[in-house]
Amino acid sequence: MEAQQLSYTAKLNLLLASYEIHYQNLRSLHWNVKGNNFFELHLKYEEIYTRTQIIIDEVAERILTLGTTPLSRFSDYLEHSLIPENELISDGRKGMNYILNAQNSLLQIERMILNQASENNDEGTCALMSDLVREKEKTNWMFAAWLG
Ligand SMILES: [Fe+2]
Repeated sequence: MEAQQLSYTAKLNLLLASYEIHYQNLRSLHWNVKGNNFFELHLKYEEIYTRTQIIIDEVAERILTLGTTPLSRFSDYLEHSLIPENELISDGRKGMNYILNAQNSLLQIERMILNQASENNDEGTCALMSDLVREKEKTNWMFAAWLG
């Protein structure tokens, strides 16, 4: 089914699945980065995956708050994630490009959820989504600046 046709609670599960795969991609970037930006990027990747872990829990618990069940199996995450698993990336620019693109995919679905939650007067979900959107808009500016 096309993502646009799903209810926003179902979209929250697509978002959760996408964050879970993104999280593991970030761990892989943290482990495999090479080059003279190693120390900078190794730390930056850790900062981003640590924040992602917190977001994952907030999204899953919002799904529960709305009376539905968060996906929790890796097989379901792989099936539903909008972000594919990465091959091994050691180049810093490729890694940062991946993050910028992944964040744009996440932003797209967060904006869709925000609109639908707003139509349903679900202020709690709107608040969570607008926090995530604002945060990613800011970090995307920083990642784009790093890439030059
Ligand atoms: Fe580490």
